[in-house]
Amino acid sequence: MKKLVIYFSRTGENYMSAGIREIPKGNTEIVAEKIAEITGADLFKVETIKEYPNDYYECCDVAKEEKNTNARPKLKRYLDDISLYDTIYIGYPIWWGTYPMAIASLIERLDFSGKTIKPFATHEGSGLANSVNDLIKACPNANVENGIAIRGSDASIAQDKLASWV
Ligand SMILES: Cc1cc2nc3c(=O)[nH]c(=O)nc-3n(C[C@H](O)[C@H](O)[C@H](O)COP(=O)(O)O)c2cc1C
Repeated sequence: MKKLVIYFSRTGENYMSAGIREIPKGNTEIVAEKIAEITGADLFKVETIKEYPNDYYECCDVAKEEKNTNARPKLKRYLDDISLYDTIYIGYPIWWGTYPMAIASLIERLDFSGKTIKPFATHEGSGLANSVNDLIKACPNANVENGIAIRGSDASIAQDKLASWV
């Protein structure tokens, strides 16, 4: 059976160890592409119809509001059928201690019965935070394995860590 990487990632201003920086490619996207390269998995990018603000602080406000209201932002495309896949890597930046609500918009529509989920996150200090517990709640029929957390600023040098984790 095949493997799939589902991920959300944002470009624009982000908070890195060196301060606020404009990043042309999202940290999680860098990690997602490496996982796909290592495993031969298909890639599915979660994209919201309404883009998040480029400004870091404005994005933080929008994301906080979405989390507090348990929002389900509308996506550009959805995946309906994952029956071809046995292992699904789900990746996201940590936003306010868990995955962005856009991930919830997608995964709640999918049937994960008998599937293995391997979570991966990029972050700036909080590791996987509550995201794995939230995934277990959102996908109760899946076997959710240990996740991996990569500091966003280390995304491009995470190859070896990822290779032993996959
Ligand atoms: C809205 C928002 C909320 C964030 N919340 C957290 C957080 O709670 N904990 C943390 O360690 N990092 C947090 N970060 C930092 C991101 O998780 C980190 O920069 C990540 O690598 C961004 O991934 P991306 O480039 O794929 O979007 C937050 C960033 C944003 C924009």
